[in-house]
Amino acid sequence: MPVVLKSAEELERMRLAGRLASEVLDFITPHVKPGISTGRLNDLSHEYMVKVQGTVPAPLYYAPPGYKPFPKSICTSVNHQVCHGVPGERVLKAGDILNIDITVIKNGYHGDCSRMFYVGEPSIQARRLVDVTFECMWLGIRQVRPGGRLGDIGAAIQAHAESHGFSVVREFCGHGIGRRFHEEPQVLHYGKPATGLMLEPGMTFTVEPMINAGKPGIRELADGWTIVTKDHSLSAQWEHTVAVTESGFEVMTQSNGSQSAPDFAR
Ligand code: MF3
Ligand code: CO
Ligand code: CO
Repeated sequence: MPVVLKSAEELERMRLAGRLASEVLDFITPHVKPGISTGRLNDLSHEYMVKVQGTVPAPLYYAPPGYKPFPKSICTSVNHQVCHGVPGERVLKAGDILNIDITVIKNGYHGDCSRMFYVGEPSIQARRLVDVTFECMWLGIRQVRPGGRLGDIGAAIQAHAESHGFSVVREFCGHGIGRRFHEEPQVLHYGKPATGLMLEPGMTFTVEPMINAGKPGIRELADGWTIVTKDHSLSAQWEHTVAVTESGFEVMTQSNGSQSAPDFAR
């Protein structure tokens, strides 16, 4: 399937879906505290999406080829969990780091974003990993412009992560997004500058680097979804949905609670 270019009206819908996804993260933020379970974070987010926003939680029963349906409405990935963590009984404790990944559907269009959260006070290493991963996402986003190439995004992310002694997860990547949750192109978080697909106005895709404190290897848990680091090192991820504009990029998944872009990306 080819890369879908979005019209002005479609981009307007993507903006709305994107803001709503980000607002779910704003809503859940004050609940992320020691003693709460990831299942409770799921239930609160689900209620907010369905009852307050009138959005559809895209993960719920999502079943790409080879996967069983995802059983919950959000992904919660704690500590050495890389992505696709399934919310459940696990109770958060001080010192945990947590990614919450939200994807909503509004008027047929998807908005997909995630942030890292600290439960209590993080270790120095955890804080450094989370900060560097945030910078990686923004260094990647900053490469987005017409005539730029997908490899520019991956190369910028990889160089920054590895310069800090961290590693880039290879098995999962950013993705085109629109009417479908995951569409072309694949947006790798590693690569070589000036290679890969050339970017054009109207493309919409995510940038969502997963960065490990240790080695890049991962494995899937028996639940068929949760991905963890093979070496049990900490992992972090941030995600935005972006559009290629005539002059550069537009971040679709921003709201009042979004962390502002680092100085280098403004
Ligand atoms: N939101 C994730 C992404 O960024 C995908 C989650 S798929 C799910 O692509 F089924 F686990 F929700
Ligand atoms: Co995504
Ligand atoms: Co996501």
